Amino acid sequence: MAGDKTNGAAEPVFLIFGKSGWIGGLLQEELKKQGAKFHLADARMEDRSAVVADIEKYKPTHVLNAAGLTGRPNVDWCETHKLETIRANVIGCLTLADVCNQRGIHMTYYGTGCIFHYDDDFPVNSGKGFKESDKPNFTGSYYSHTKAIVEDLIKQYDNVLTLRVRMPIIADLTYPRNFITKIIKYDKVINIPNSMTVLPELLPMSIEMAKRGLTGIMNFTNPGAVSHNEILEMYKEYVDPEFTWSNFSVEEQAKVIVAPRSNNLLDTARIEGEFPELLPIKESLRKYVFEPAAAKKDEVYKAVKEMRGR
Ligand SMILES: NC(=O)c1ccc[n+]([C@@H]2O[C@H](COP(=O)([O-])OP(=O)(O)OC[C@H]3O[C@@H](n4cnc5c(N)ncnc54)[C@H](OP(=O)(O)O)[C@@H]3O)[C@@H](O)[C@H]2O)c1
Repeated sequence: MAGDKTNGAAEPVFLIFGKSGWIGGLLQEELKKQGAKFHLADARMEDRSAVVADIEKYKPTHVLNAAGLTGRPNVDWCETHKLETIRANVIGCLTLADVCNQRGIHMTYYGTGCIFHYDDDFPVNSGKGFKESDKPNFTGSYYSHTKAIVEDLIKQYDNVLTLRVRMPIIADLTYPRNFITKIIKYDKVINIPNSMTVLPELLPMSIEMAKRGLTGIMNFTNPGAVSHNEILEMYKEYVDPEFTWSNFSVEEQAKVIVAPRSNNLLDTARIEGEFPELLPIKESLRKYVFEPAAAKKDEVYKAVKEMRGR
């Protein structure tokens, strides 16, 4: 793989798996904006012959794997759909990596950083983040369990870059999958600092990483951590000074969800080494989310009020 980033082609050709998904859709927008050549895969990832057919049809130099099961309305779904989760997130993901490997094609896998949890060795607010080389210590949900297994297996593939995405954020504060939308909508939120991924800043970097032929694991978050309350304070500051919310503890949260959720800080030395311009999380939130929201404050205020129904 090393040194042969376009597989002999004059320009990179991307093939996206997960074309109908959130991240897959954003990748299409970004590649269009860049004027890059890309195609959309049709195959289910676990169907090896269909994957091979897509690869032979589109002849990509780079596969972007934004496909997988995340559960609807949330990851709790995976607790009761374990076989479907294994089929997509384990068998599917590995099949795609394996087919790409046999053909010398680079694959970027949009995985998750929700495989770590603060503990005695990595205490909250200590500033000590989980590194790429650290072994996952959170498998409390079936979703995270499958993701941790795949990360461990896929690291043997020298054509794969695994990106650990966390609590992804976009500017649209009414988009239901946006982490900020979720906490604006909930009646009660926990308040724990976490590493997060501001997609408008980071997704273009992931395309550049693919072009650079990077492989291995990459913590794919902005540097530092931000807490739920800090984000809601920013919403108050930029959009709605009257906004109120209430907090509850992790123990109280456990009563309204099925599977536990992870809270963690990821170490960002590797990604900062590649992209020294990457903004710390709070600055990135201001630039990519709250300043654009403030520019159309009345519209955002109205839409959020309507969405909250209170
Ligand atoms: N959103 C988050 O909060 C979050 C956080 C961290 C990491 N991630 C990771 O980022 C990746 C993309 O997430 P997302 O939020 O964009 O997901 P999403 O909106 O749920 O979209 C998932 C996409 O994967 C496709 N898909 C599912 N199973 C498939 C299979 N077996 N074969 C081929 N395609 C399949 C879906 O297509 P169909 O609709 O046709 O099934 C859909 O296009 C996932 O690996 C996820 O774990 C997401």
